[in-house]
Amino acid sequence: MTRKVLISAVTLCLAAVAGVSAASEPVDPISPAKEINLAQAELGKKLYFDPRLSKSGFISCNSCHNLSMGGTDNLKTSIGHNWQQGPINAPTVLNSSLNVAQFWDGRAADLKEQAGGPIANPGEMAFSHTLAVDVLESIPGYVIEFKQVFGTGEIDIDKVTVAIAEFEKTLVTPNSRFDLWLLGDADAISANEKAGYRLFKESGCVACHNGSALGGTSFQKMGVVRPYETTNPAEGLAGVTGKDADRFKFKVPTLRNVTLTYPYFHDGEAQTLTAAVDIMGRLQLGREFSEDETAKVVAFLKTLTGDQPTFALPTLPPSSDQTLRPTPFE
Ligand code: HEC
Ligand code: HEC
Repeated sequence: MTRKVLISAVTLCLAAVAGVSAASEPVDPISPAKEINLAQAELGKKLYFDPRLSKSGFISCNSCHNLSMGGTDNLKTSIGHNWQQGPINAPTVLNSSLNVAQFWDGRAADLKEQAGGPIANPGEMAFSHTLAVDVLESIPGYVIEFKQVFGTGEIDIDKVTVAIAEFEKTLVTPNSRFDLWLLGDADAISANEKAGYRLFKESGCVACHNGSALGGTSFQKMGVVRPYETTNPAEGLAGVTGKDADRFKFKVPTLRNVTLTYPYFHDGEAQTLTAAVDIMGRLQLGREFSEDETAKVVAFLKTLTGDQPTFALPTLPPSSDQTLRPTPFE
């Protein structure tokens, strides 16, 4: 008992010392990716770009989470197999490893669980896990690489999703101008941008958009003070928990790289950051920002663009004579 108390007192002390600078702001800088299994991530990168995981042989993860466009498709809702209209806006994959859970309604616990979803989703890649694995096993280059990475050339969906999730862990975006400022470079952001950050904090945006991703830490109701009008049928967290109180609660999206991830909200209805900030002020906080205030908050949000992923495009191993041929028009 005494020992336990002592240990927690020491831990508290250490936390207090370590937290002196970090604790003074509700937002932490993004850290570069740590503890990455490089071999798994390299394989995962190939799978992320490989459209042969889809029925059409045309749609890859990168089709909807384009790493040249902030990890999104910049569409209101995504286009799936056979040009199907997607039900909801595609969130960015950048910094998604920092989310408490995945999807707008949190129905996948982590990136590994999430990565299996789109492959078999009839409205997205429209394949099945068995067929995707069959395709990979028919490609000699993959069999060799799975063997190198996992010690066996026997491929299964578990290894596929482990590798993709490991690659996604590398998709963090450190060194935004705002982070340089947080880390002590007083001139990294302008006086106008600092004023925007102050408004962001003081008007209450940080209550929901906090942590290093400025979001992804909780589920919150869309339309706290005034209801949000939309024709999109998404229910949010209630679809997962079945609780009426969770209706219209969505995972708070990250505001990192938000300049690149338009359009905004789960229904993709807000085209511009100015519109999104104005709606957030009125619906979430009951606050009418002046044009000047909105412009300041937007200026602050534009400082949140960090280093985008850069790497050589992976060369995918070619199909063999045995590889199941894609069926794009079925
Ligand atoms: C046809 C477009 C499409 C394809 C292909 C696609 N996604 Fe998505 N992705 C979406 C949409 C739309 C959502 C949001 C769905 C929801 O929340 O209900 C999403 C959600 C996600 C999320 C959750 C992000 C968050 O903040 O909650 C991750 C991670 C992700 N996708 C990764 C992938 C990976 C990995 C692949 C390839 C295996 C992939 N996606 C393929 C459209 C797509
Ligand atoms: C009560 C919690 C809460 C508060 C307070 C809040 N937000 Fe949000 N914010 C959310 C949620 C939830 C969403 C997603 C809503 C949706 O998609 O329907 C969101 C979405 C956004 C988006 C769109 C991001 C995207 O990628 O779609 C922006 C920009 C944004 N908020 C900025 C702000 C600003 C600026 C403030 C302060 C004026 C603020 N928010 C206050 C919870 C909150």
